[in-house]
Amino acid sequence: MTEDANLCRSKATICSDNHSAVAKSKNVGSHKRSIPGPVSKAVQRWILQVQSSIPGSIEIDRIDPLPLVNALSRYTVYGSLLSVRPGLFETGAWGELFNAHQSVTASSFYRILAEELRVTHIAYNGTIPATQSKYGEEEASNDFGSGLDQSQATLLRIPAKIQPLYGYFGPLEDNTTANTDRIRTWPNHKALPQTFFATVQQFGISYVFPPIHCMFSRGNTREKERLLNLPAIQSAVHEGQAAGTGCAAVDLYAGIGYFSFCYAKAGVDTILAWEVNGWSVEAFRRGAVQNKWECKIISLSDDDPVLEEWRVQDHEDEKQSSAPRLVMFHQSNEYAADELERTRHMWPPIRHVNCGYLPSSGPSWSAAVKALDPKLGGWLHLHENVKQSDIEAKARDVVVEIRKLFDAIKAQRGSISSERERSDVQLEHIERVKSFAPGIYHCVFDIWVSGT
Ligand SMILES: C[S@@+](CC[C@H](N)C(=O)[O-])C[C@H]1O[C@@H](n2cnc3c(N)ncnc32)[C@H](O)[C@@H]1O
Repeated sequence: MTEDANLCRSKATICSDNHSAVAKSKNVGSHKRSIPGPVSKAVQRWILQVQSSIPGSIEIDRIDPLPLVNALSRYTVYGSLLSVRPGLFETGAWGELFNAHQSVTASSFYRILAEELRVTHIAYNGTIPATQSKYGEEEASNDFGSGLDQSQATLLRIPAKIQPLYGYFGPLEDNTTANTDRIRTWPNHKALPQTFFATVQQFGISYVFPPIHCMFSRGNTREKERLLNLPAIQSAVHEGQAAGTGCAAVDLYAGIGYFSFCYAKAGVDTILAWEVNGWSVEAFRRGAVQNKWECKIISLSDDDPVLEEWRVQDHEDEKQSSAPRLVMFHQSNEYAADELERTRHMWPPIRHVNCGYLPSSGPSWSAAVKALDPKLGGWLHLHENVKQSDIEAKARDVVVEIRKLFDAIKAQRGSISSERERSDVQLEHIERVKSFAPGIYHCVFDIWVSGT
């Protein structure tokens, strides 16, 4: 886990507490010479409270705050949500304390900790396993927070390991409305108003997510920042401006908007997003509203219980172009190619396609190549988990595969004879986003594909 070290309540941030006061003296309240961090303050306040509520116990009078603070030295704040490592309060210093003093419970500490860190909710979190690949097996899932079986929960990136500790997160039992045929869920009308959505700020963009239903991907920070400044995106934006057409990007695994919102922030006029998890679709819509981007949801199944909010345009922008800023298709990206074939005339030229799925985004590549503007071409950003020693070879394979798909599309479009003076499919860059597991890298292959 890597992230900024500062505590910043509106960012998804791994934090360490300044506990120099307790490190200097184990006496509760001895913070005259340095300012304790919020965790130290919370522990000190809580110990005082415990001591005053159970007076006369020698052991309670001697609770040592330092190991308690140390155990909480790393935590993550996602806006108003505090996430700590699973089991923190049942093991180590905290576990020993509660085992020794049955009358003292963690719940009285959560409230004080929430106050000091200025959050409303606390949860144990765990990583979401990316199974189904030899390089994706991260760890086994438990079933917390989801009525779906593991493969569906994994595909939809449902955070099966989150365990609420403090604050009401919403009805967990309602997360069972999976349409197993099309592997999709939608926000249950009854559960929706009761469900807690956290808001996180990154790079001036607001992201909204319901922690019990959708992951928030901290690990992609580097990739988000790259997209915000990517010359290829800037050149698509400038070419669109010069031609008076604007430009569009497609996000085939949109989630709550991790990458879609970066394209919007970078100046792309329209982003066409695909997402199967209805809770992510709703989070995406709420995020768009917070960022003041008009968002239209297209829900294509007749039996979908479309939410009233999804029917209306959320943001009336006076300078709005003919196409909305964000268009979310609540369906599998398997349908993206057909949908774009039918509606291409409605959107600016599609110049970038993002395939952000691990361990492999391979199943979406055909749709991605088809999505690009037939005349101008554009860029694909293909995410893969790759063994470190295989990265260069994988890049060559990716180019071969994309060229094969491109040739098939050219044949379909009747443009097979077009010369290859300029290489039609080119690897532009390999981004090593992060180490996913020992020896395995989350890579993004940036591929240029010319017009057909
Ligand atoms: C890992 S999240 C990725 C979000 C973002 N692209 C990222 O990398 O941070 C993947 C998202 O893809 C969605 N998803 C999985 N299969 C899909 C499919 N066939 N069509 C559309 N969305 C899909 C999941 O529900 C999940 O929200």
